[in-house]
Amino acid sequence: MNFEKYKELYRYSIENPEQFWAEQANEFLHWDSPFEKVLSGSFEKQDTRWFVGGKLNASYNCLDRHLKNKKDKPAIIWEGDDPAQSKIMTYGELYEEVSRFANVLKKQNIKKGDRVCIYLPMIPEIIISMLACARIGAIHSVVFGGFSADSLRTRILDSDCQLVITADEGVRGGKIIPLKKNADQAVNECRNVKKIIVVKRTGNSISWDDKRDVWYHDEMKKVDSNCVPEKMNSDDPFFILYTSGSTGKPKGVLHTTGGYLVFVATTFKYVFDCADEDIYWCTADLGWITGHSYILYGPLLNGATTLLFEGVPSYPNFSRYWEIIDKYSVNIFYTAPTAIRALRHEGDEWVNKTSRKSLKLLGTVGEPINPDVWKWYYDVVGQKKCPIVDTWWQTETGGILISPLPCTPLKPGSATFPFFGIVPEIIDEQGNVIKNNEAGKLVISKPWPGMMKTIYGDQKRFIETYFTEVPGKYLTGDRAHRDEENYFWIEGRNDDVIKVSGHRIGTGELESALISVPEISEAAVVPIPNEIKGQGIFAYVVIKPNVIPSDELKKKLNNHVREMIGPIATLENIQFVKALPKTRSGKIMRRILRKIAVGDVENLGDVSTLADSAVINDLIAQ
Ligand code: WT7
Repeated sequence: MNFEKYKELYRYSIENPEQFWAEQANEFLHWDSPFEKVLSGSFEKQDTRWFVGGKLNASYNCLDRHLKNKKDKPAIIWEGDDPAQSKIMTYGELYEEVSRFANVLKKQNIKKGDRVCIYLPMIPEIIISMLACARIGAIHSVVFGGFSADSLRTRILDSDCQLVITADEGVRGGKIIPLKKNADQAVNECRNVKKIIVVKRTGNSISWDDKRDVWYHDEMKKVDSNCVPEKMNSDDPFFILYTSGSTGKPKGVLHTTGGYLVFVATTFKYVFDCADEDIYWCTADLGWITGHSYILYGPLLNGATTLLFEGVPSYPNFSRYWEIIDKYSVNIFYTAPTAIRALRHEGDEWVNKTSRKSLKLLGTVGEPINPDVWKWYYDVVGQKKCPIVDTWWQTETGGILISPLPCTPLKPGSATFPFFGIVPEIIDEQGNVIKNNEAGKLVISKPWPGMMKTIYGDQKRFIETYFTEVPGKYLTGDRAHRDEENYFWIEGRNDDVIKVSGHRIGTGELESALISVPEISEAAVVPIPNEIKGQGIFAYVVIKPNVIPSDELKKKLNNHVREMIGPIATLENIQFVKALPKTRSGKIMRRILRKIAVGDVENLGDVSTLADSAVINDLIAQ
């Protein structure tokens, strides 16, 4: 495709969305029953449905469909945390394992529509588990292995999962992660979890409950590998994935089957332009949407070879990513700005001692990429010969919405133009569309197939969060502007969401964790810029009378937050304060705290709604 062709096809896709998406749906997927209508309903009425009447199965589309021509083609290349460990699984092998594990799930009485929680490290069994759920129509809810027992429990309970799949332990950067121990702690209070299936990863001794726990490898021996895929309605729930929002409770983002699959298959194909013989590697974790859409579903729907890496970019040394690229001749490499910043910080030698000659295309996702970092990625990693696709999207959007294609003329730091069928707009406080060069709220004004269906069990919150402030349009929560050539520049979040190393954390979650410490009466959390992590967490805390502020207390707070949420939630700065700035109605004015945290006290903006302006002087004086 060339850029003229992109513009032409984009125009066609927004002028004839139903034809465009029907063509993609038929090109990329096998439908057990054809759909009767491409799109029904609207954002205004909140009743959108994609590919109405169509029936299909995700696992069939990822596996069975490729057996005829690609049975012996590698589906997964697995690279262990320890460089000496690796494994290749062909499409044929993956099909066998998935069908077998689907039968294990059936034997545990898991049926269509049941929720299954997957708490696994980056090993092939995580993909096998997800696809096995998809095969029988169970709804998977993958919880990132870096989350704590508490976070895991909240998520299991919110979607009422009946089964948990985990491993004895995980291994990352040479360190052990006690997954089974966390799972035991989490399910103690989950009455409906009757079974835990445990994958043996390290073989170290773990605690065991004979009535509840079974080994994955034992169960796999007891079943055969014939499992007819369940024919799912296009609109049937496919998976739940939790993400953070403005308030304390994480949101269970629910995606449905047909729309999601069409969207990730199409975006994967056009954005990454993956040829049949290419080796594709996305470094995300399957616990996030990037892993769902662009390690698993997008690549396998396209019959591609996807690389699955268990470890971290710094272990055993800072050349690890580039060594893996050389080891497997990776052609397409997709990672996050936080990883690029961290590796750039370590110096060019770690990169330059590898060849990387196989690379054709680079990608980035998760937060804005600063132009200097972009240039380093382009010049040093890609040796000035690989285009960079800066892909903007969200857990909620299912797949990439704004991104270059390999043919797009690039500008460092810009996500450039919308994908086919996507109609983004930038609007001001009054809801008017802003023309160019002024920042505003980024909204999407027309439905697209990958859009989430609802927040699991909370349709009211879904509408309030995404469709109330700007009626009839999807509110992304990001700020952006468009330049004179219509390039999109995403500036960052516009709400109470913080991105720490690309991980999305809500200020509300952090504040709830802080105030559950007995010494604390109030807390407010804001982001501060951090060179490597993008953003760091700055916490203002008010301690109870009689409590003495100390470094030990700070340590205790940090440990507590990490324990409640997970190690990704590390507080960079904690400040004890007498009071928090609030409006007369009691709302914390985070806008002011954000400015004070970075020392920008001259530009606090309108403070007239403050209940007590003396609070500000106290904060600044510290
Ligand atoms: C938020 C969504 C999409 C998968 C990973 C994150 C930020 C994402 C970009 C980008 C600037 C980006 C936004 C967005 N974001 N990609 N290319 N440029 N910002 O998914 O955890 O749901 O986070 O990540 O702020 O709203 P997520």
